[in-house]
Amino acid sequence: MATNRTFTMIKPDAVANGHAGKIIDHITQAGFKIVALKYTRLSTEMAGNFYGIHRERSFFGELVSFMTSGPIYAAILEKDNAVEDFRKLIGATDPQKAEPGTIRNLYAKSIDANAIHGSDSDENAEIEGNFFFSQFERF
Ligand code: RTP
Ligand code: MG
Repeated sequence: MATNRTFTMIKPDAVANGHAGKIIDHITQAGFKIVALKYTRLSTEMAGNFYGIHRERSFFGELVSFMTSGPIYAAILEKDNAVEDFRKLIGATDPQKAEPGTIRNLYAKSIDANAIHGSDSDENAEIEGNFFFSQFERF
């Protein structure tokens, strides 16, 4: 059964470019409620663990170095059908292929620097939320 929560990160490119505020507004205007929010920076170890599923892929090193290149916002979001609806809101991994009006279409420059992360399943949303937030940091 689909749960009503997902997890997101506003990635270092979007924070550095000053897009974080507009992206948070876009997310809340689309009906997502923020139930936890943190401004932080990933260590190499954290980024490697977070994206551990991609460890054997050719782009893993670049992904980790990009994700540790500056601060991010991490958040847990709530809405009916959250995981699927949020993936639609952010658009395709490659911003060149992202639908017009999606967050990656509006704010991302490349497949590496693609502005935002969204969980790809309910199971991963739970794991990723727990990676960043204790039970006392969510509402
Ligand atoms: P994310 O996990 O960050 O939300 O991105 P995603 O689900 O859309 O894509 P995923 O397959 O999980 O890949 C994670 C990040 O790795 C980079 N990537 N590069 N060069 C490539 O072919 C390639 N494929 C993926 C992207 O930055 C992607 O966001
Ligand atoms: Mg992914």
